[in-house]
Amino acid sequence: MNAPLRHPAEAVDAQRGYMSGFGNEFATEALPGALPEGRNSPQRVAYGLYAEQISGTAFTAPRSHNRRAWLYRIRPGAVHQPFVPVTARAGRLVADFGAVPPTPPNQLRWDPLPMPAEPTDFIDGWVTMAGNGSAASMSGCAIHLYAANRPMTDRFFYNSDGELLIVPQHGRLAIATEMGRLEVEPFEIAVIPRGVRFTVDLPDGEARGYICENFGALLRLPDLGVIGSNGLANPRDFLTPHAAYEDREGQFELVTKLNGELWRADIGHSPLDVVAWHGNYVPYKYDLRRYNTIGSISYDHPDPSIFLVLHAPTDTPGVDSIDFVIFPPRWLAAENTFRPPWYHRNVASEFMGLVHGVYDAKAEGFVPGGASLHNCMSGHGPDAETFEKASNADTSKPHKVADTMAFMVETRTLIRPTRYALEAAGLQANYYQCWQGLTKHFNPEKQ
Ligand SMILES: [Fe+2]
Repeated sequence: MNAPLRHPAEAVDAQRGYMSGFGNEFATEALPGALPEGRNSPQRVAYGLYAEQISGTAFTAPRSHNRRAWLYRIRPGAVHQPFVPVTARAGRLVADFGAVPPTPPNQLRWDPLPMPAEPTDFIDGWVTMAGNGSAASMSGCAIHLYAANRPMTDRFFYNSDGELLIVPQHGRLAIATEMGRLEVEPFEIAVIPRGVRFTVDLPDGEARGYICENFGALLRLPDLGVIGSNGLANPRDFLTPHAAYEDREGQFELVTKLNGELWRADIGHSPLDVVAWHGNYVPYKYDLRRYNTIGSISYDHPDPSIFLVLHAPTDTPGVDSIDFVIFPPRWLAAENTFRPPWYHRNVASEFMGLVHGVYDAKAEGFVPGGASLHNCMSGHGPDAETFEKASNADTSKPHKVADTMAFMVETRTLIRPTRYALEAAGLQANYYQCWQGLTKHFNPEKQ
């Protein structure tokens, strides 16, 4: 069913069954000859398939930003019963961040989301923590947590509100999309484009993690400037699945999220019925352990923009609506330097999560699956314990920050926590205390 196409222009990661590259013009077919040659919409498509285009950018977007794909499928995407609202999840999902409670200027931190007590699938396990802008304006982002313990059986989903950057923290996700199958594990990320239908199985029985939903311009790789032609996240490490389809009829459910509301429709067949496709509007995954981390080899350390994996640009050059940044294992070599992150207050707002281990600015309290939010001009930095240790460390030798993987969603506008996040049992009321031990060392008599 998942026969890879041997196409001269296709870079195949044969071992892992994916095609490699970021933003490529991929072409793949699960049956030989299913892809039309030399045109997108022939009068009759091979095998009796329907041709359907899915566009992810304006038709007239510049070629370098233009994203679309042509799908050759058993039935068009239009074939389903009418959608009706799903009310059971009301209040858990937010897509308009002009309508959330007042945003406190405090530093905020949360414990991990508990695993659900009831059987809960990937879609029902979402809860919105924070965000900005709105889905309706196609600007900004939402940050969700998910916790699930049941596969999506005969249930399919597509997000009308934006692309989904999924960051597993616990448990693998087997994501079967219209365009092929992705398996992602903690330390990897997956991006599912707006509109692409998928279902999620849980190979480990349960799963937990983070989702950054991008309402705005599509995520892309940053330019490298003086870094040169290699480094950070390398394009060849982004993996897109081959075409795979199922020809299955029955009583299924199609769910979508539109403007923050869930809707469901009956559908009499699996919508994962795309036999062949080509284009550059695609799901993909990336292994964060392949990130080429760059840092100082003299003194000080660069701004955290050096850790950028993907970004969603705005109309203002150099100013992004989303920077997805990671803090992976790395060597710290800067001499006579305070090596952890410095104390700072930024115009940008920062939502952080921890996939694994310990983050180097916090000795305790920030645990895998947890989250923190430091909004515009909110002062933060290492806790007292970390400050003491780093201030007295021997910086004549390099030090390996090992066994860690933290990430940050940094945005240019305020990240507004939802009512759920502000009232959650996991909100750590004592977070501010981690800086209270930073005592006065000042002595005007001693330089
Ligand atoms: Fe920060």
